[in-house]
Amino acid sequence: MTTDFRDLSERLPGWVEAYRAYAAEGGVATYIPELAHAPQRALGITLHHRSGTTVSAGDADLPFTLQSISKVFTLLLALMDRGERAVFEKVGMEPTGDVFNSMLKLELVQPGKPFNPLINAGAIVVSSLLLGDSPEEKSQRILRFVRELAGDDGPAFNEDVYRSEAETANRNRSLAYFLKDNKVLDEDVEPTLDVYFRQCAIEVTCAQVARMGLVLANDGVDPATGRELVPRRFVRIAKSFMVTCGMYNASGEFAIQVGIPAKSGVSGGILALVPGELGIGLIGPALNDKGNSIAGVHLLKLLSERYDWSLF
Ligand code: DON
Repeated sequence: MTTDFRDLSERLPGWVEAYRAYAAEGGVATYIPELAHAPQRALGITLHHRSGTTVSAGDADLPFTLQSISKVFTLLLALMDRGERAVFEKVGMEPTGDVFNSMLKLELVQPGKPFNPLINAGAIVVSSLLLGDSPEEKSQRILRFVRELAGDDGPAFNEDVYRSEAETANRNRSLAYFLKDNKVLDEDVEPTLDVYFRQCAIEVTCAQVARMGLVLANDGVDPATGRELVPRRFVRIAKSFMVTCGMYNASGEFAIQVGIPAKSGVSGGILALVPGELGIGLIGPALNDKGNSIAGVHLLKLLSERYDWSLF
């Protein structure tokens, strides 16, 4: 599997322009009011190869918030902070087949442990496990980790998106109080949610996300310095979750059509990677009915077919 970057840089701008049209079939997220301002037809992508070569096209410079993409990085941080046993005592390893903010299985399947760390309930629990004496300290640790993987001090909290979500997050509050009542969440609800809302509101560009994906594609080693940023075992866990749960209840279809580890967010961002080869950052704010970037998924399908990326 080697992607022809010359072919890619010639064709990518045209593909991106053509694929913007898919946005008309989707819609931007509005349940976090601040996200409703996102440009519906935007589409941008950066691919970062292990050799250092990068290719970008479309609106790759459009800043967007990580939203659920952050869940991959808080999982990695929690695994590094607390170890595998402590994390998986609190959260499972299975896809749900339900929407990302569903409460259904928390009551249905005892002991009410979230099925995986990439659904909202699981990510809230994971954030509660992070080391740090205060929500501020935990949030700063997440931000530092994201910046380290992005190889860039640019990522910062978007205060407007953070506040907008914190003020309206009735569903996440219900999930967190339910988890607390079930004794799955040991920490206090509001400080835990504060960490979770802040991680979701970290603002990035496609290039930064592509660089983060590249570190995962490179088994946790910074390709520029050769330094291990994340133990390989934990990267393997994160990549497995990305394949099985990263695109929520569309993960099976994405595995068939694209076949690479990926994680989406309701901002329309997607983090994806071709193991051993490259990282991808993508933004396309119009979402399909499963909450994934509609043009983004179509574009990744095209790229995967052309460059034979599927792992399967
Ligand atoms: O908690 C939420 O609902 C958002 N901050 C993140 C959800 C999300 O990105 C789901 N993605 N498709």
